[in-house]
Amino acid sequence: MKSSLTARADEGVNRTSGSGSKDCSHGLIKVVTFLVIFIAGVVLGLSASMHITQRYSSTTELFFPPAHYTAVFKEEDCFSIGNFINPSQLTHHMTDEELFWRASMVPKKTDFPYKRVPKVAFLFLTRGPLPFIPFWERFFHGHEDLYSIYVHTLPGYKLNVNQTSAFYGRQIPSQNVRWGSPELTDAEKRLLANALLDFSNERFILLSESCIPVYNFPTIYKYLIGSTQSFVDSYDDPSRYGRGRYSRNMLPHIKLADWRKGSQWFEVNRILAVNIVADTKYYDLFRKYCRPSCYPDEHYIQTYINMFNGQLNSNRSVTWVDWSRGGPHPATFGAVDVTEDFIRDIRDGNGTTCEYNSKETTICYLFARKFAPTALEPLMNLTSTLLKF
Ligand SMILES: *[C@@H]1O[C@H](CO)[C@@H](O)[C@H](O)[C@H]1NC(C)=O
Ligand SMILES: *[C@@H]1O[C@H](CO)[C@@H](O)[C@H](O)[C@H]1NC(C)=O
Ligand SMILES: *[C@@H]1O[C@H](CO)[C@@H](O)[C@H](O)[C@H]1NC(C)=O
Ligand SMILES: *[C@@H]1O[C@H](CO)[C@@H](O)[C@H](O)[C@H]1NC(C)=O
Repeated sequence: MKSSLTARADEGVNRTSGSGSKDCSHGLIKVVTFLVIFIAGVVLGLSASMHITQRYSSTTELFFPPAHYTAVFKEEDCFSIGNFINPSQLTHHMTDEELFWRASMVPKKTDFPYKRVPKVAFLFLTRGPLPFIPFWERFFHGHEDLYSIYVHTLPGYKLNVNQTSAFYGRQIPSQNVRWGSPELTDAEKRLLANALLDFSNERFILLSESCIPVYNFPTIYKYLIGSTQSFVDSYDDPSRYGRGRYSRNMLPHIKLADWRKGSQWFEVNRILAVNIVADTKYYDLFRKYCRPSCYPDEHYIQTYINMFNGQLNSNRSVTWVDWSRGGPHPATFGAVDVTEDFIRDIRDGNGTTCEYNSKETTICYLFARKFAPTALEPLMNLTSTLLKF
């Protein structure tokens, strides 16, 4: 500030001095310099003697608009509890290692400093488009405080939804996935970890683009939140497709007796989710020794939970699938298959009962796969009748 004032004073000297004597210009410089110092003094004196209730930053406000400063202080509260318990946006630049570390943190204090309403996290693992978005949107409508959505796509894929959609802004930082490789389990852990950053998420359900709900939101929410156990399909398969995929290289940490198989479409509670994200030791053994024709997504979580949290697992899945036609892939259902009776049969597993909190129930399945995009229209028609949403 002062140097620019001095420079302007010098210009003035040159203009007024013209061809005049050096003494004169020296005199002028002295006068101008005196004036500059005097004015600066007056300015400083004035600002210093301003009323005591004035803002501390009033000196700065003389030269800069005050709005700028107050705005900066208001926006960035790095320690706000709101942003800690539920980050306002999903994009971040953490590596998996950093993300898993952060997501594995558990507060020692068991009571929350806010009213915690438990939420169900819906984790969509997909290559790209989600053909049943309109169906899901109707399913979620009106229950905004009780769920969160996370979508893992192939990198670079952008979900085409508008701002009113429940899926808007819900894509997590994703990486490439080759199906059947450990990258698939990495993506599952990435979904879990991102969802764990929201401390209100209590149950975590993994879904694909071909999955649909077969009950309305209140029924599914009550069932999952109220369950004492998680729903991870986990069983001992003595065949070459089960035990046959075990590798003795995993000894002594994982024994054949520990080894389990099951569908990848899990549902876990927060405790299990944290344990899965926190594990490196056992996961590294799977990365190294569970290679085709061993598929980590069918064995890792199933075996790990069996080893350490078996009591917390029902060992059954809540996602219905039809393997009855044989072959390496389950049946896919399209427009002609979707009827009220079909969905009703799915719900109770065709007339069977299931154990829920140590009691029998006819509600066995909450979700179903696989459905082709053509199933959307008849499914939308069922929302107002059987499905009630
Ligand atoms: C946003 O999408 C929904 C459902 O896909 C649709 O009903 C609505 O009209 C769209 N809104 C805008 C502004 O495009
Ligand atoms: C599920 O399997 C575990 C062993 O991993 C067992 O402890 C648990 O009792 C089983 N749960 C049910 C509901 O059968
Ligand atoms: C239920 O069982 C009947 C008779 O076996 C079969 O035709 C039908 O496809 C089954 N439905 C489901 C959803 O499994
Ligand atoms: C859905 O409902 C509409 C209107 O009732 C009807 O025209 C259409 O045929 C139905 N579609 C299917 C696939 O059932």
